[in-house]
Amino acid sequence: MRRLPQPATLPVSGHLQRWAGEPVALLHEGAALSRANGRLFALRLGLPAVVGYSPEWNRRLLTDLATFRSGGSFSVVVPYLSGGVILTDAGHGDRRAALNPPFGKRSLEALRERVRAALRAERPDGTFDALAWADRAVLRMLNAAYFSGDLSPHLLHAFLAPLRSPFPVPAVPRPLLFARMNRALDDLARTRLTSGGDDLLFHLARWPGGVREARISLAAGHDTTTHTLAWTVWHLAQHPEWFRPDGLKSAIRETMRLYPPGWMGSRRLARDVNWHGHTLKKGALALYSPYLSARDPDLWDAPDTFRPDRWSAAPPAWAYLPFGGGERVCLGMHLANLMLEEALTLLLENGPLRTVHGDPTPRPGVTLGPAGPLVVTRAARSARRDAPTPAAGVEAV
Ligand code: HEM
Repeated sequence: MRRLPQPATLPVSGHLQRWAGEPVALLHEGAALSRANGRLFALRLGLPAVVGYSPEWNRRLLTDLATFRSGGSFSVVVPYLSGGVILTDAGHGDRRAALNPPFGKRSLEALRERVRAALRAERPDGTFDALAWADRAVLRMLNAAYFSGDLSPHLLHAFLAPLRSPFPVPAVPRPLLFARMNRALDDLARTRLTSGGDDLLFHLARWPGGVREARISLAAGHDTTTHTLAWTVWHLAQHPEWFRPDGLKSAIRETMRLYPPGWMGSRRLARDVNWHGHTLKKGALALYSPYLSARDPDLWDAPDTFRPDRWSAAPPAWAYLPFGGGERVCLGMHLANLMLEEALTLLLENGPLRTVHGDPTPRPGVTLGPAGPLVVTRAARSARRDAPTPAAGVEAV
C-alpha cells in the first residue's frame, strides 16, 4: 500500500495544533503536496483522517452514504449541530423527505414578503460594519421565516452567539441556554399547533422531532448566511460594476466559491475503502473541502480572483460545493439564497458602496468567516463607473 502525503506535523500533537491554529495554511500545504498524485492527503487529528478535494473524491463521499457516514463526524463535538438530520445515518432519506417541503424554493416564496418586511428594520445608513449588520439582518430574517418574528430576538441572539466564537467556545455544552431555547420553541410550537400559522415552525411542529430540527437548522443557517452576506457586501463595494439587480446572483456564487462557509465537511468510514491503491481504514475521518476544490488551479481560471463573470458558464462538476451535494445537500440552500438576495436588494436601494477599512482574512471556526470588521460606506453614484480605490486592508481578490 502506498503512503499518502501529509503536511508537516508538530511533535506529540500530530496535526491537531496546526488544525486549531492555522487550518487554512495546513489545507493549502496538504493540497500542494497531493496535487500531482490524487489530491488526497493524510492528517492526524487525534484520529487518522484523510482529506480529498478532487471532483471524483467529492462525488464518492457525497453519494456513497453507506460508507461515508455522518455519525461520529466533526458535528458531534459542537452541541448546536450534534443531532437531528445532520447526524442521522439510518433513515436519513425519510427524515429529509419530511423536512424538505417547507424548505423548497416554491414554498419559501410565500415567506419572501415577510422576510423583506423584517429586514426593513435593519436598513443600514451611512458608514457601517457589514459583518455586524449581516449578523443582525440574518437574525431578523430567520426569526421572520421560522417564527413570524415571534421568538424573542434577545434569546435568539444569545442562543446563537457562542457559535461565532473561535474554538473551543462553540463546543462547550450549555444545558441551561439550550433548555431555555427548547422551552421557548416548544411554547411557540404549541401555539402553531392550536392556532395555525404559515411559517417554518408551523410546518416543522407537526412532525415528530421537528421542533429540535428547527433549533439545529437555525444554528446551521445563521453563521453560514451571515458570513456569505458580509463577504458579498465587501466584494460588491470593491466591484461596483456587479452591484446591480442582475449581478447579485453571480456575485453571491463567486463569493461562496472563494469563501465557502462550510469550508470542510466530515464523515466517518464505515468500512475499509480501497482508493487508487491506498487502503483507507474503517473508522477514519474522511473529509472533503469545498474551499480547496473551488480554488484548484487545474479546474478554475485565476482561482483566487473574484470574477463573477465566470458564472456565465457552468462550474466544473463536483468542484463547486458551497452547499455540499448529493442527498445531504444543505437543507437551507433556497432559504439562504432568498435571505442573501433580499438583503443585498435592500442595500442596492441605498446606492453603491465603497470599502472604508476592514480585515477580510478568512478565519475558520465552525464555519469560515471573515476576521472583520468590514466597514463600508455609501459611495457617490458616479463611483459605479470609476475603478474602486482599494482601502487599507482590502484583499487582492
Ligand atoms: C450560505 C448559507 C449556507 C451554507 C454555505 C450552508 C452550507 C452547508 C453545507 C456545505 C452542508 C453540507 C454539510 C456536509 O456535507 O457535511 C449543509 C448542510 C445542512 N444545512 Fe446548510 N448552509 C447554509 C445555510 C443553511 C440554512 C439557512 C439552513 C437552515 C435550514 C441550513 C441547514 C442545513 C442542514 C440542516 C444541513 C444538514 C443536511 C443533511 O445532512 O441532510 N443551512 N449546509
